[in-house]
Amino acid sequence: MKTVIIIGSGIASLTAAHKLADHFNVIIFTKSSYKESNSAFAQGGIAAALDKMDHPIHHFQDTLSTGKGANDVRMVKLITEKAGNLIHELEEIGVQFDTQNGYYALGREGAHQKNRIVHVKDQTGKAIIETLWARICTLEREWTAYAVVLATGGVGQLYTLNSNARTATGEGMYLAYQAGAVLKDLEYIQFHPTILKGKHSILISEAVRGEGGYLINGKQERLMSRYPKGDLEGRDLVSAVLHEAIVQGEDIYLDVRHLHYFSTRFPFLYQACLQKGIDPARTPIPVEPGAHFICGGVEVDQVGRTAVGHLYAIGEVACSGVHGANRLASNSLLEAIYFATACADLHSIRI
Ligand code: SIN
Repeated sequence: MKTVIIIGSGIASLTAAHKLADHFNVIIFTKSSYKESNSAFAQGGIAAALDKMDHPIHHFQDTLSTGKGANDVRMVKLITEKAGNLIHELEEIGVQFDTQNGYYALGREGAHQKNRIVHVKDQTGKAIIETLWARICTLEREWTAYAVVLATGGVGQLYTLNSNARTATGEGMYLAYQAGAVLKDLEYIQFHPTILKGKHSILISEAVRGEGGYLINGKQERLMSRYPKGDLEGRDLVSAVLHEAIVQGEDIYLDVRHLHYFSTRFPFLYQACLQKGIDPARTPIPVEPGAHFICGGVEVDQVGRTAVGHLYAIGEVACSGVHGANRLASNSLLEAIYFATACADLHSIRI
């Protein structure tokens, strides 16, 4: 059996490993643990047009309008059309998404026209990682390979304030560049508006605003009320508004005191806040914007091939063109799973 080395251990990596394992020896290199990655920390969920009032075309339109015209339209079409099937494949291997009245409990996030975020409470990434991990096993130690798949994630740790895992330090891009691959759109760094204040790298999911949480200043004034989509404007605009307020000397808070079900819908965040001495039922949560996601990366085609033979890149390390200049919320796990599946399913590695 030929060997494929996958570098990185987030959702893109484990999805590719799961898909390739019947045909290859698969070795995963991780500099930390499969429990520590941006995927494992992903709270929001996966965007997919599953509601009967929704359609992949709306997801396609929202992705393009958020991406400011810099998206690769063909790639956006591919992943938005396949999103529903990918959700069903995850269910087939045991991921249990939240439901309400027998159907998906679809959440809402910024810049989406519809409720379309499939989630597992506020730890969607962790639930998917654990399910995938349980289905693959580590093989014997080997160091040469027929193909190498980079799935090393992003670069958030280059920024003092960020939402990323400690492992998101960008080496994958550097390795690919050294090998002769092309890096693209590195300037498109997305900032998330609501990171728990104080260099904790704890993201307060946009899904919290999707459920009715809102941003206020220290005088209890709402900060996003003058914008058409309010607190659910795209995260680029929300981050810019908060940044401007902070520069003017204001403190910013996410107010969820009125969300009586906060502790059950967002159990991880509720506990994280309590551990930092903040009771969200009584006190608005102090937040600030921070680096969250890089839309650029190693240039790839529709199955994750780079410019270097036998070198592939999938997930955040790659630039597939799906996100353009600004990623639509909950399109990152979708992109990771889509390209990991395409890379393995289309026999691209077997050619
Ligand atoms: C969030 O939960 O707010 C982040 C989701 C994402 O980055 O897509």
